[in-house]
Amino acid sequence: MKILNKTKWLAALCVLSVSSLNAADMTNEEIAKADYKQLLKRLTPLAGSKPAQWRVTWSGESSTTATVSWSTAVFGKKHVLHYGTKPYGLEVAKYESHLACQKTGAYSINAKEAEDTKTAFYHHAELSELKPNTKYYFVMESDGEFSRQLYFKTSPKTGDFKLLVGGDSRSGMISRCRMNLRLAKEFKDKPEIIALNHGGDFIASGHSWHQWRLWLSHHELTTLEDGRVLPVIPTRGNHDGGPIFFEVFNLKKMTEKHSFWHTITLTDEVNIVTLDTNYSAKGPQEEWLDEQLAELRPKSKWLFTNYHRPLFPAVKSPAGQAAVFVPLFEKYNVDLALESDGHCIKRTVPIRNGKKDATGVVYIGEGGLGVGQYQPKPDLWYLQDGGYVSRGHHVMQLSFSAKELKIETILLEGKVVDSYVMTPRAK
Ligand SMILES: [Fe+2]
Repeated sequence: MKILNKTKWLAALCVLSVSSLNAADMTNEEIAKADYKQLLKRLTPLAGSKPAQWRVTWSGESSTTATVSWSTAVFGKKHVLHYGTKPYGLEVAKYESHLACQKTGAYSINAKEAEDTKTAFYHHAELSELKPNTKYYFVMESDGEFSRQLYFKTSPKTGDFKLLVGGDSRSGMISRCRMNLRLAKEFKDKPEIIALNHGGDFIASGHSWHQWRLWLSHHELTTLEDGRVLPVIPTRGNHDGGPIFFEVFNLKKMTEKHSFWHTITLTDEVNIVTLDTNYSAKGPQEEWLDEQLAELRPKSKWLFTNYHRPLFPAVKSPAGQAAVFVPLFEKYNVDLALESDGHCIKRTVPIRNGKKDATGVVYIGEGGLGVGQYQPKPDLWYLQDGGYVSRGHHVMQLSFSAKELKIETILLEGKVVDSYVMTPRAK
């Protein structure tokens, strides 16, 4: 038997400890107690022109479009995404398509952080004319440095699928990383999961490149060992102010201020209208929302709204936009509203005209992707008599099938604490 010297033994042990932090191989208990420093060792360093901090963003029609983005530590000259429906590993010339990034630039960095830190650089490859429900394999190249082969799957046009919904990953670095392992575990065990709808407050200060840099690196923990990347549907939270949010996710501001709203057509039957609760409800946002809901309701089996600050909160006061948004949601019979910001777990009863009504809108969420949890107010009428309220790091899983939508709340430890079934509205 070959005897390893001390250095080789240490290296072997290191590899062992790193691979044992693969979420798919970890027990629920190990995920809940995962060691932060060990997790950081798994992450691709942001150094030179080596592609790091990759993410796939969905905004628009997710069955045919996506943005694949990454970061490099140096600006570089050539940034290309090699991609296609067949895996060729690092034989990049064999891929069907070779797309030069349409957008590349420096992440904004504030003057104070710039004193001791260099910024990094984003690269966005905007993909279109993709095939629905299809795996796209890709390798990122920056100035001759390559990533490993990764892939994502476009959303289906019809049929069953699952979506993860969560928010508030802004502080609590250790819990954020553990929750990312939770997401990875769910993603691995249920390949029908297509994406994460992140309800905002990615980081504590939107103007801090230091904080975004950490979020971007931690996000790598959601990538599976086989290279599957969990796409993100972004929402702007009250902590996500400033330009970096737009630079990270390749998004276009809706007004001269840093406001952002968009609709995601997940399938022919499922639409999510995402709003910005940092921006006035009246004026352009209200007009846009009215038009979107009027257009989408007749063709949607499931029509959701999504935004950061709750209109029916379990912890804080209602967002100022409630007076405009709630009547429109009820006018167009929105099925489900996704909320964050309260740092707790909640699911309201269906609400219409300020009271429980089986034809009303259900509001779920409040955010638990790592942030410390607040004590909710369990006595609120809309959380009583069939609603649910609790606290704990969590993600919600939405399972779409022909007959129903099932909503489950999954804690960091993997335990399902709430399960609720909705059936589509009669046409
Ligand atoms: Fe918030």
